[in-house]
Amino acid sequence: MEKIRSAEYVRSAHSARDLLQDERPQVAFVGRSNVGKSSLLNALLGKRALARTSSTPGRTQAVNYFLVNERLFFVDLPGYGYAKASKDKRRAWAQTLESYFESALPEALVVLLIDAKVGGTDLDAQASEYMTSLGAEPLVVATKIDKVPRSQRHRALAQVRDNVVLPAGYPVRAISAETGEGVRELWADILARLGPA
Ligand code: GTP
Ligand code: MG
Repeated sequence: MEKIRSAEYVRSAHSARDLLQDERPQVAFVGRSNVGKSSLLNALLGKRALARTSSTPGRTQAVNYFLVNERLFFVDLPGYGYAKASKDKRRAWAQTLESYFESALPEALVVLLIDAKVGGTDLDAQASEYMTSLGAEPLVVATKIDKVPRSQRHRALAQVRDNVVLPAGYPVRAISAETGEGVRELWADILARLGPA
């Protein structure tokens, strides 16, 4: 990114009718509960606590919009796959996600986060397939890479590619919101996809 001049919380949408209608581009953070979506959003913006994070899964429960440099939105989404959440909550989060994707894709740029240590899960593969069917071409990142010893990283990235059923050679970027590794490179990927300001 050019310099982050401003980054501010705009609003939370709990249902389809609250979703933001705005011409400016959206970058949406998608992945399992607790994978680090809100943390990565903060790391990209250089803000410690703009989006709320938690060590307990299920922290983000709505579609949260943040306006960056008045030119694009970062969209923090609820996660999927939190087995211990009640059935009602899981259904509500899935509905929130679905209405967001149906309204925002294919225009929104999806950043799909996969836990580098856990690897891709069946739900990640399903999410990827679903978003692709709506026309998304996700930027796939293997996050929490700081938890994977260097000697195992190549294998971890290959596993993500396999599990999420990405074509051979599909780029998977190693990222850590904790150490900042890969964050600049992800910014470059995002800007390249958004095109000129
Ligand atoms: P939900 O909103 O519940 O879906 O979770 P989330 O995907 O937004 O995850 P969140 O950013 O709240 O982070 C979950 C936990 O993972 C927190 O304890 C973070 O500190 C931790 N975490 C996030 N990113 C990283 C990372 O890159 N490395 C390490 N080691 N921990 C991380
Ligand atoms: Mg979150």
